[in-house]
Amino acid sequence: MRRPRVCIHVPIEGDLKARIRATCRVFDIDIGVPREELLGSLHDVEGILLTPRVQVDAEFFDAAPKLRVVSTVSVGYDPFDIDEATRRGVVVGHTPGVLTNAVTDLTMSMIFSLGLKLFPAEAYVRSGGWARHEPPPGLGFDVRGRTLGVIGFGRIGQEVTRRMQGFGMRTLWYDLFDSPPHGAPQSERRGLRELLAESDFVSLHANLDAGSRLLIGAEELGKMKPSAYLVNTARGGLVDQSALTQALQTGALAGAALDVLEAEPPDLNDPIVTLPNVICFPHIGSATEETRRAMRELAVDNLLAVLAEERPPAAVNPEVLGRSPGL
Ligand code: DGY
Repeated sequence: MRRPRVCIHVPIEGDLKARIRATCRVFDIDIGVPREELLGSLHDVEGILLTPRVQVDAEFFDAAPKLRVVSTVSVGYDPFDIDEATRRGVVVGHTPGVLTNAVTDLTMSMIFSLGLKLFPAEAYVRSGGWARHEPPPGLGFDVRGRTLGVIGFGRIGQEVTRRMQGFGMRTLWYDLFDSPPHGAPQSERRGLRELLAESDFVSLHANLDAGSRLLIGAEELGKMKPSAYLVNTARGGLVDQSALTQALQTGALAGAALDVLEAEPPDLNDPIVTLPNVICFPHIGSATEETRRAMRELAVDNLLAVLAEERPPAAVNPEVLGRSPGL
């Protein structure tokens, strides 16, 4: 049996590696190596397992002329040139669905943290303010009864809507499509501007692509209430970060919770991460043991299916499959 060569460019468990080894010739390239070193190792590679840290573009494909599958351990694939992959007959696999629960948990936690002002309260205790009898930080507010605007009504946006309705929030949604997807919770559709103007919390759940890049700029932020909060667990590139920083500094917006930034990691001097009305996390939306394991399993399933000329469970560009013999 022919054993295709596979590059593993993300840490994975031994049992998953053994599954790949059963039918492939495998080599590992550490996630931290310079790009030239990675590209220099791909000339006879047919499959690669990686993350969106890697820019997958024409230069990448030129370095890997035998490539048949790029399998990412992520649902997002914004640094990948999907048109180029499709043109070259390379299947791109990703991991939708298995991280919906974890990202929703984080989004909910952020909404409650902002509303209840949990972080200032925690800092007050940690810094000794409580012990020193200093005046406590200001009161929070009830999330129940407030309006949540969800931008991007896919799997995660729908789940956030469903769960926050359970906590008594009124919900709105905006997406490029007009009718709610099959199985979506009952929620009111709004145009983007109307949603921004009506919401107490705006939560971003859209994919990042050419059409959605900088979707939320100065003008859009200007539509939001000064008492409103922005929550972003999707992609930093959806937001004009300098416009957001300014809105937060001037009080045009009450606060923000950010799990993603324009540049990750951020510049050491990026003001947004230390603003008193911002809570910021290091892109941990999928960072639970169970979710990351499920993502790695699905990514390996995608990789092995394509190499075995079978239909992978989650392809971004399934149109390539019809072109490959046996698929
Ligand atoms: C995803 O899966 O896209 C997460 O944001 C991690 O990159």
